[in-house]
Amino acid sequence: MQGKRILLGITGGIAAYKIAFLIRLLKKSGAEVKCIMTPASCDFISPLVVSTLSENPVGVEFWNKQTGEWTNHVEYGLWADLFLIAPLTANSLSKMAHGSCDNLLLATYLSMKCPTIVAPAMDLDMYAHPSTLRNMAIIEKDGVEVIPAENGQLASGLEGDGRMAEPETILAAIEMHFALKEGRLKGKKVLITAGPTYEALDPVRFIGNHSSGKMGFELASKCLNEGAEVILITGPTNLTLKNNRLQLVRIKSAEEMLSKVKEHWSKQDYGIFSAAVADYRPTIVSDQKIKKNDDNLHIDFVKNPDILAWAGQHKTAQKLVGFALETNNATGYGMKKLQSKNLDMIVINTLEDNGAGFAHDTNKISILDSHNNLLSFELKPKSAVAEDIVDYMIKL
Ligand code: CTP
Repeated sequence: MQGKRILLGITGGIAAYKIAFLIRLLKKSGAEVKCIMTPASCDFISPLVVSTLSENPVGVEFWNKQTGEWTNHVEYGLWADLFLIAPLTANSLSKMAHGSCDNLLLATYLSMKCPTIVAPAMDLDMYAHPSTLRNMAIIEKDGVEVIPAENGQLASGLEGDGRMAEPETILAAIEMHFALKEGRLKGKKVLITAGPTYEALDPVRFIGNHSSGKMGFELASKCLNEGAEVILITGPTNLTLKNNRLQLVRIKSAEEMLSKVKEHWSKQDYGIFSAAVADYRPTIVSDQKIKKNDDNLHIDFVKNPDILAWAGQHKTAQKLVGFALETNNATGYGMKKLQSKNLDMIVINTLEDNGAGFAHDTNKISILDSHNNLLSFELKPKSAVAEDIVDYMIKL
């Protein structure tokens, strides 16, 4: 969102109080924000709040009554990369659908050069009214993107559909809009493995590991933000991620993970294998709970398939990224894995570094590629690490 110019139009609904948070989020994401408000919206949020947070003057009237200066709505249209109207009331929606322009915001909409996205907010009966649905269909046909209202408590005290989408959801929709237009992975497919695998011992027990899946989920969200279609195949984790270009596949064991990878691999452009796959599984899975009879319990293990190695053997044009978690001689072992698994790059992390590894929100990595370039990064939050990995992968 760095440097993106967002023109934010605010209309007169109670959800306008949330716009302060939205402006903050937009500014934090690196966007420039200018705001225009309908006169009615000034009853719900003060233009002073809006101008202070956006760090720009706010447009409300066609002209300044003190100075006689005209507010040029055409210039707003030329300035913006995106026109976002939030909240959008039933009244303003109806005017947009029928080309009215009795305020600055609507005149700007009619002279807009860039795409428009709206976040409607109204009471449930208004939101479901046939005229609202008709008007919504009209503006969508005109090319406006609609962020659907959400279900929940409404200002009227009723509960249902009509709440404006939360500021975080609106920001995500805007990021997605730009990702689909300009993302470096637009039109590309990425398969990601994440999390631990659980290898069953009996109906109630398994062998697993401490992987949280965070790295894989961060990688998925970075790839989505770059416009990719993502399949995230994950072992058991509490994490979740929603996106209409994400297919989230939950598995338990290494064998289930391999079978899902086999199903999708040939259609992918990239593979990022961050899962902490169990190297071995119990040879025999007991049908019944194992009873504690003897003082010692011996379990035989058999090697699991190496999923990453399988993908390396079966890659055609795909770029393949693997991970190596080492405790010693990290670069040496990393290099060996890169070659033996036919990878394009490998992300090496070592538990020798404080703050790196499974249990942390941070990680410290080095990247080694198949041209023998080695690049080491600082200790960073996992979301920033994911950005470094995806950046490197795209440059490859
Ligand atoms: N991996 C995999 N399937 C396995 C084991 C590992 O896909 N059965 C992948 C991991 O997702 C990771 C990479 O292989 O991308 C390296 O995993 P790691 O456990 O570090 O290496 P191994 O090859 O298993 O070797 P070792 O455990 O002996 O270090």
